Amino acid sequence: MLIHIPEILSKAEVMECRRRLAEIEWVDGRATVGPQGAQVKRNRQLPVESPVGRELGELILQRLYANPLFMSAALPLRSVPPLFNAYSGGEHYGFHVDGAVRQLPFSTLSLRTDLSTTLFLTEPGDYQGGELVVQDTYGVHEVKLPAGDVILYPSSSLHKVEPVTQGERLCSFFWTQSMVRDDWQRNMLHELDCNIQSLRQQLGDSTEVLGLTGHYHNLLRQWADV
Ligand code: NI
Repeated sequence: MLIHIPEILSKAEVMECRRRLAEIEWVDGRATVGPQGAQVKRNRQLPVESPVGRELGELILQRLYANPLFMSAALPLRSVPPLFNAYSGGEHYGFHVDGAVRQLPFSTLSLRTDLSTTLFLTEPGDYQGGELVVQDTYGVHEVKLPAGDVILYPSSSLHKVEPVTQGERLCSFFWTQSMVRDDWQRNMLHELDCNIQSLRQQLGDSTEVLGLTGHYHNLLRQWADV
C-alpha cells in the first residue's frame, strides 16, 4: 500500500533546504548500493557524513515522527538518517529492490528495511520525467508529488525512478523498520485506526469506540516487536 502524506515541509522550508543543499558537493549514488543496484543506478547523492544532510534529515524525521498519518501507517521502530539524491541530464534508477538490512551510519546497529519513504524537494512542473514507479501486489503506481510531500511504500516492492530529461529532481529518502514486520498486518492496523479516529469524531469516546480502541491496542500487542 502506498501512502501519500502532504506538506511535511512548507514551501519556505523546501526552498531553504534546496539553498543549503546547493552549496554541497554531491557524489556518485552508487556509493550506497550493492552490485545489483550499481548496475541500474545513475544519480548523485549527498555524502552520508554531510553535516548539512544530517541536520536537514533530522528535521524531516522529526516532522514525520510527529505526523499522525505516518505514525499510524508506518508504526516505526527506528529509521536510518535520511539521505538526499539528485537526478538530471537523463539520470535514472532502474527497477530494483532495496537491500533488506541496512547498517546505521557510525554505529554497529542495523535495521530491517520494511518501509521506504521519499520526500520530494522539487515541484513537479520544474523537471520532466523522474516519476517514482512502484510495483506492488496492487499493480504499478507512478508517483510525482508537490515539493514538501512524502510517499511511503513497502521496501519489498520493485521500484524505479524514470530518467529526468529536463531540469533537476531533488529528493530525500530513508528506510524504516516497523514494529509490525508484516505489510498485511500493518495495513489492517492502519485501516482499523483510521476508522476508529473517524468514529471518535462522530460519536466521541462512546463505549463502542473505547472497545474498538482496546481491540486495536491488543492486536498491536500481539503483532508488535519492540
Ligand atoms: Ni530504492
